[in-house]
Amino acid sequence: MKTLNELMRLDGRRALVMGGSGHIGRVACETLKELGARVAVLDAQPSDGLFFPCDLKDEAATRKTIRYAIHELKGLDILIHLAAYVGTTKIPGWAVPFEKQTVQAWEEALKVNLTSVFVGVQESREDLQTSAHGSVVLFSSIYGIIGPDFRLYEGTEMANPAAYNASKGGILQMTKYFATLLAPKVRVNAISPGGIHRNQPNAFVERYRQKTPLGRMGREEDLKGAVAYLVGDLSCYVTGHNLVIDGGFSIW
Ligand SMILES: NC(=O)c1ccc[n+]([C@@H]2O[C@H](COP(=O)([O-])OP(=O)(O)OC[C@H]3O[C@@H](n4cnc5c(N)ncnc54)[C@H](O)[C@@H]3O)[C@@H](O)[C@H]2O)c1
Repeated sequence: MKTLNELMRLDGRRALVMGGSGHIGRVACETLKELGARVAVLDAQPSDGLFFPCDLKDEAATRKTIRYAIHELKGLDILIHLAAYVGTTKIPGWAVPFEKQTVQAWEEALKVNLTSVFVGVQESREDLQTSAHGSVVLFSSIYGIIGPDFRLYEGTEMANPAAYNASKGGILQMTKYFATLLAPKVRVNAISPGGIHRNQPNAFVERYRQKTPLGRMGREEDLKGAVAYLVGDLSCYVTGHNLVIDGGFSIW
């Protein structure tokens, strides 16, 4: 029987991280590297290491860049997708009250948060299937599972756009769709983080904390164990699962 350490190691595995330059993305890349994987990042913002710039709103560019990245990695074992328009993304008609949210922002967000997952999996499918350890990890959110409690945002400039929730719910359905489609060679799972503490207004942080059984907002580091578990052989009999890392926020 393999040891836990043997099951956890990713030596020789090749990983592509879409959205790997972001806050959680950087931690996901670090986790992969710590475990021995070779990591390529595809993002609009630069990152250290093997980096491929790409605007995920552009389908043709995304397909071409993914092909190129896989060529440079000489194959693919792991695909992680975390790229997203999030609550702090600064575009007009996005993180504003519902009556001011625009269809243009909605459509752009769906392209990044959801359509680029479809494209990413379509382009990498064959390479993942030829790996003996093909694994896909998609990032949803507590807002893919539960509705927003707008009382949390009262008196702040914060907002929770409708397209964010729609796209994160969509990620969970795509996880199940791809899990059955790509089985048995490739496993597909989701991680749903709760809110990560990043200098939000005190009133919000305090209300959020009160609603969280473990009594605090998340930290990027809280996601390391989930990434390590789902990308490799520790979870070799797990597919179509949504691993919720939210301090219990969504259980009541
Ligand atoms: N931070 C949280 O509280 C939280 C909570 C639940 C879920 N999540 C999810 O975790 C994932 C990572 O979130 P994060 O907090 O690290 O966000 P982040 O904004 O730090 O990272 C998102 C990344 O996506 C990239 N991106 C956005 N639009 C792009 C485009 N058009 N083309 C290429 N790249 C693009 C950004 O450049 C950025 O590097 C997201 O899917 C998010 O929905 C985050």
